Amino acid sequence: MMTPAPVPSLLVLGGSTDQLFMLKTAREMGLRTACLDGNARAPGLGAANLAAAIDFSDLDAVFAWIDTQREAGEALQGVATMGSDVPHLVAAIAARYGWNGPSAETGRLATDKLAMKECFAAQGVAVPRYGAVNDGADVRRLWKAWNCRQVVIKPTDRAGSRGVRVLSRDDQVDDAVAHARGQGRSGALLLEEFIDGPQISTETIVWRGRAVTPGFADRLYEGMESFHPQIMENGGWLPSRFAGTPVRADVEALVESTARALGIDSGVGKGDVVVCPRRGPLMIEMAARLSGGDFSAGLVPLGTGVNYVRAVIDIAMGREPDWAALQPARDITVANRYFFPPAGHLEAVDVPPDFRARAGVVKLELSYGPGDTIPVIRSHGERAGVMVLTGPDRASVQALIDEGYARVRFRIDGQWRTGEPGPAR
Ligand SMILES: Nc1ncnc2c1ncn2[C@@H]1O[C@H](COP(=O)(O)OP(=O)(O)O)[C@@H](O)[C@H]1O
Ligand SMILES: [Mg+2]
Repeated sequence: MMTPAPVPSLLVLGGSTDQLFMLKTAREMGLRTACLDGNARAPGLGAANLAAAIDFSDLDAVFAWIDTQREAGEALQGVATMGSDVPHLVAAIAARYGWNGPSAETGRLATDKLAMKECFAAQGVAVPRYGAVNDGADVRRLWKAWNCRQVVIKPTDRAGSRGVRVLSRDDQVDDAVAHARGQGRSGALLLEEFIDGPQISTETIVWRGRAVTPGFADRLYEGMESFHPQIMENGGWLPSRFAGTPVRADVEALVESTARALGIDSGVGKGDVVVCPRRGPLMIEMAARLSGGDFSAGLVPLGTGVNYVRAVIDIAMGREPDWAALQPARDITVANRYFFPPAGHLEAVDVPPDFRARAGVVKLELSYGPGDTIPVIRSHGERAGVMVLTGPDRASVQALIDEGYARVRFRIDGQWRTGEPGPAR
């Protein structure tokens, strides 16, 4: 008698809350799951069939672990992650075992914002004006040559808005250069013309060159002044303001050609797009990975009924995704909003139970608790929490957002404050 084929396993890099949705989805697909995370207390380690507290940037350790599991009969057949910006590691692991994954070149381009912009420009992908800079003199020279109102400076090799600043005045230049350099890994810096227009987050699934973009949401920058010169979004909306308009089709075409330019033949591309009032949609960047946070795991499944993390898992396992399942099955309004209370010592939080229990309040998570010190929030890693809200239309969801921002409160240094960005907090 033949022994039945073992159940295939998916290796998930990272076991933080960012990867739990992928582990859950893989289980729902009937797969076994394996999870690696350097933090032995990461929740994903307990949620997987197989787990080890291994820092997955240590590729020798990862390979040794996978080899051992395979020798023991584990049918590991693919690797994936979400939220974690490590396409070069996914690429290296996939390449070693002959699994589907980003190429080493895609991994390199996706983690170097300057190389990425050069690749886009060379392949005709529309981008804001950009240039490499080393110091304040370089910034001033390019800014003058571009003759634009504002510029953005960023490290070439970070994510989550770390080190990114918008400059409106000459006296901000030197500080921003030092800040961006301090936040970067290599110290290499990129300057761009700041494009003032609506921004869109996208996620595109590609299989053997065929692409579809089931992830499409507005990014919001309300209360931006309170972060200035840092730039951080405070949440998103689904469906996008461009749903059903020609702009949506233009943005889809842009991000799908961007994925090709990045060499994503079978995989996922997460796009940041700005719609320039004059030039149309421009590509800010594309990551060769799934989003973390609430986009692919929350907003899109809630709003459209599509869970494209399934497609990413199928592709990682070498299987064609189910295209029909990538078409929207419903149209519900969803929003997420982040909390940005002022810095200080957090003494208490107040989350009204009746608000938390409302039908449209899908998620409400705070990342600091009493006794913690809230820093000046300068990047997404430092956010104080998030709420995810749904309803039949924007007006009803906006009412929940307003209530949440008004009633979820933080007692900081003796005063009750809110997490709403802007002067109101
Ligand atoms: N050229 C630009 N024009 C307008 N906004 C920009 C530009 N570059 C960056 N931004 C804003 O800054 C944010 C962070 O920059 P990005 O290049 O995406 O870096 P990160 O890796 O930190 O996400 C973007 O989501 C966007 O809101
Ligand atoms: Mg970005």
